[in-house]
Amino acid sequence: MIEVKNLTVRYGGVTSLDGMDLRFEKGVCGLIGPNGAGKTTFFNVLSGFVRPVSGSVTAFGDDLLKLAHYRRARWGVRRTFQTEQAISDLSVYDNVSMIHSKLRGPARRDDVLASIAFVGGGISPWAKVGSLTAGQRRLVEVARAVAGRPRLVLLDEPAAGLPDDETSHLTGVIRAIPAQTGALTILVDHDMVLVNAVCETTAVLDFGRLIASGPTAQVLRDEHVMRAYLGTAEVV
Ligand SMILES: Nc1ncnc2c1ncn2[C@@H]1O[C@H](COP(=O)(O)OP(=O)(O)OP(=O)(O)O)[C@@H](O)[C@H]1O
Ligand SMILES: [Mg+2]
Repeated sequence: MIEVKNLTVRYGGVTSLDGMDLRFEKGVCGLIGPNGAGKTTFFNVLSGFVRPVSGSVTAFGDDLLKLAHYRRARWGVRRTFQTEQAISDLSVYDNVSMIHSKLRGPARRDDVLASIAFVGGGISPWAKVGSLTAGQRRLVEVARAVAGRPRLVLLDEPAAGLPDDETSHLTGVIRAIPAQTGALTILVDHDMVLVNAVCETTAVLDFGRLIASGPTAQVLRDEHVMRAYLGTAEVV
């Protein structure tokens, strides 16, 4: 469980998160909102890249903001980024094994291989990342996020730009992350079909403020949410 209270982030004159209050219980939770709403900023706070001016974040009873940013990975925070992070010249295995892990020796090797097998997509652990398709590289990013016993998995637009068949494969993978790892998973994406398919609950940010949260189907029908996104049209 993660509980966020009164979280505010400012960049000079821009208020990116404005007294955000939020609670995510378990499973895969959605976080949506228009461009610039503050979704990536929220992930940056959780992973320690950005220090808020006020607010608290409690994750599984721990005060996350008190942990130095380099301790967050050890604690169990994992994330993917809107831009690719995997190193093209290295193998898939080497890219995934760079992730912080409490495991050592054969258990660590098994965990890396299991994470690669988990994301599927016909990826050989020994292939160079540079030789993979765009969709396979995206799966490598997810494998990095599920390796090493994570407690909190943050996925920032993992489906952006993927064709439908690869998005549908990714849908199954994301849905299975909590059962595979035990981690609370937060999905940020603009693909409402994906969000609807994998997230039991969803929260909506607009201009750094929470404007709705609850069961996904209900949130996506919410009038304020539809207006924030599209004017008046339906989101799904
Ligand atoms: N490093 C920064 N310096 C200044 N302003 C920033 C910085 N990072 C983000 N912002 C601003 O904070 C606001 C929120 O940005 P953020 O990237 O969190 O939005 P987002 O919801 O992830 O949007 P998108 O859907 O486009 O990825 C925007 O107004 C953005 O311009
Ligand atoms: Mg973003």
